Amino acid sequence: MSLRLGDVAPNFQAKTSIGDIDFYEFLGNSWGILFSHPADYTPVCTTELGKTALLQEEFAKRNVKVLALSVDGVENHKGWIGDINETQHVTVGFPIIADEDRAIATAYDMIHPNASATMTVRSLFIIAPDKTVKLMIVYPASTGRNFNEILRVVDSLQLTANYSVATPANWEEGDDVIVVPAIKTEDAIAKFPKGVTVVKPYLRYTPQPNKD
Ligand code: BEZ
Repeated sequence: MSLRLGDVAPNFQAKTSIGDIDFYEFLGNSWGILFSHPADYTPVCTTELGKTALLQEEFAKRNVKVLALSVDGVENHKGWIGDINETQHVTVGFPIIADEDRAIATAYDMIHPNASATMTVRSLFIIAPDKTVKLMIVYPASTGRNFNEILRVVDSLQLTANYSVATPANWEEGDDVIVVPAIKTEDAIAKFPKGVTVVKPYLRYTPQPNKD
């Protein structure tokens, strides 16, 4: 059965562009982003890995470790990283997993046979420090993902984990956030000293708690 939100992300050992890793050991207490791409030496994937490399500092600030994956081998990955660095003006520092036997792709349901029998689709998982899956997205091969959106989701997930708030549609850093339904309004007023605006009993906003 495929993974669902809240499930524990399966551990694995893998060959990668930076050497052999154990997934859980690599993550330690960090958040993790594991994302697949269809194949090395392909144009959309080249831009995606370039954008991810550009955002490496942003991921590090958020205590997020990133891993890419395809079913190509380590030597292919290493050669292609040279092209990514050259054409996208970056230094890819995160590992690219070589899942040649497709064991990880199978465990994470990254091969959708009616899209491609052999290549992984663009799956992406955000994994919390307790190793539970917090977000999953799946894009087709022809559409590159927006990695600024991935950062935005990480920020939302970390706000929920740390402050018991949710984020409204199109929320951006600094916008007001939503008090989660599990918190009673009287408790919310005590918990959020910046104030609580009650629009409806179930729709309550508070300024972003970790922002001055
Ligand atoms: C790409 O990454 O550019 C790509 C890969 C497979 C199919 C279409 C595009």
